[in-house]
Amino acid sequence: MCGIVGFVGREEAAPILLDGLERMEYRGYDSAGIAVRSEKEGLQVKKAKGRLRVLRELTRDGAELSGTLGIGHTRWATHGEPNDVNAHPHISENGRIALVHNGIIENYMEIKEHLIKQGVTFTSDTDSEVVAQLLEFHYHECGNMLEAVGRVLRRIEGSYAFGIICADYPNALIAARKDSPLILGYGENGNFLASDVTAVIKYTRDVVYMDDGEIAVLTEDSIDVFDDELIPVDKEHHTVDWDVSAAEKGGYPHFMLKEIMEQPEAVRKTVSPRIKDGRVVLDDVALTADYVKELSRIYIIACGSSYHVGMVSKYNWERLLRRPVEVCLASEFRYSAPLVDEHTLVVVISQSGETLDTMAAMREAKRLGGRTLAVVNVVGSSIARESDDVLYTWAGPEIAVATTKAYSTQLVLMDLVGLYLADVLGTVEPAEYSAIVDELAALPEKLENVLAHVEDIQYFASRYFNHDSIFFIGRNLDYAMGMEGSLKLKEISYIHSEAYASGELKHGTISLIEQGTLVVALGTYRALLDKSMSNVVEVKARGAEVLAVTTEEFREKMEKTADAVIAVPESHPVVQPSLGVVPLQLFAYYVALQRGCDIDKPRNLAKSVTVE
Ligand code: M6R
Repeated sequence: MCGIVGFVGREEAAPILLDGLERMEYRGYDSAGIAVRSEKEGLQVKKAKGRLRVLRELTRDGAELSGTLGIGHTRWATHGEPNDVNAHPHISENGRIALVHNGIIENYMEIKEHLIKQGVTFTSDTDSEVVAQLLEFHYHECGNMLEAVGRVLRRIEGSYAFGIICADYPNALIAARKDSPLILGYGENGNFLASDVTAVIKYTRDVVYMDDGEIAVLTEDSIDVFDDELIPVDKEHHTVDWDVSAAEKGGYPHFMLKEIMEQPEAVRKTVSPRIKDGRVVLDDVALTADYVKELSRIYIIACGSSYHVGMVSKYNWERLLRRPVEVCLASEFRYSAPLVDEHTLVVVISQSGETLDTMAAMREAKRLGGRTLAVVNVVGSSIARESDDVLYTWAGPEIAVATTKAYSTQLVLMDLVGLYLADVLGTVEPAEYSAIVDELAALPEKLENVLAHVEDIQYFASRYFNHDSIFFIGRNLDYAMGMEGSLKLKEISYIHSEAYASGELKHGTISLIEQGTLVVALGTYRALLDKSMSNVVEVKARGAEVLAVTTEEFREKMEKTADAVIAVPESHPVVQPSLGVVPLQLFAYYVALQRGCDIDKPRNLAKSVTVE
């Protein structure tokens, strides 16, 4: 939620800030703003409600603000409605300090009341302006900006990544973080701060990841990082291996379509280094055989689509490992008295590695004595750094808010981990182990095959895009896959949609099926195909229009009952959801396209959810 960027250097700051914000717009897009300092003009601030293009017009692509030091922000509103006044940067009352913030200050009301009593006047409804005013208060008290920031951090509670500039420090950018991502980048013509590496990879790949409680002072030639006692800290440099082009549309109309098309490659990159001579090799985890054999329970914790990956994995892992696997929504886990001890493996799944609920759940699991294994896409993200073990999905940057390639790489990585654990436990037959490994290796090619038939799905989308409500039904792995198909559809097309376990329909939901209701029936799980077919017959009998997704093998059978059929290549049941989900992603995409929706930036959402 919210993207922040800052630059100090030997080039005009405004165009660099706007470029960085554009690359991070998926983090929030209800308003945006920049503040730039120049010798002549002092602090200049421009902010605007709406998409970044409004701010671009307002500043004539940055030409309106001169200066080589600045900060920028793209907002996903939490405190105060999206409007010009609540947009960041926020300025202290005397106009000398500008601040951008990502996160939530929990005790802002109490501080605000205190400052009002001191005579401070506020202009916005945000928690962030309170920090700008508090900073001015402490700066006035101590006369030193770094010291003032330290004092502010000791008073505020909550989560934050800050970018701060002060008119009295013409060559300094200040950064601070706690529970919100922040990276610092070393560029040739100056230095950067940003919520996300995508904002800076055009200028530098040399970055450091700030840790909680740290404060940094950036000038055009130096970056100094301090701990919360203002003692200097040595930071490790990291080289970002993402390509600039990976964060650009590359000729596609939307990032989402580009990312759907990138799935074969993303899956290949995630799987192939981890299969050697037909065996799953997870060099990057340190789970000993003794530890695995003593495991009594496994939790999988995640949110949204990552949670849906967990649902698929629960079915697969329980079959393969013969151990109880519980999947929990991260936001529920931490408040549910979970049964975690040293014999519990807690797997957390997160594309961004910054989702606050997932991170908090992971910390709770660690506190209770569990061992954590994170499946993460963003290298150096908070979850990756705090987890006992981390396995990266190699999907590359995912920009569209609706996840596709990250989801697919999470699925295959979870398959690999499941196989690895089952092998250690001796709960998988060698023939089945090899069959799954072979299917994972063959998956990129089969995905290419599915993607070669986009026109069929385009056609079905144009046939069904006018429906107001769409149900996804399936059993077992198909049910888990349906949850993802339904989320994809509702998040980008705004069509009401629900996913149900087919067998559960007759316990209530079937009353919603009437003449013409669209039901997407998933029948790729061969073991329960006949039962799924019976459920298709049931909804058809109540007037439903049925679009079925099945495998090539069962196409003919399905065609006898469903109104329309999409078929994907056959695979091992463990791997089959990786193929079945792709038509669902494409269906959501083309339905949203037909409805004229803003596909990459759906309303009310943001890519990285760093608030509770
Ligand atoms: O970054 P994460 O995987 O932790 O994000 C979790 C969810 O917010 C995310 O999967 C969300 O549901 C997707 N945007 C859905 O497409």
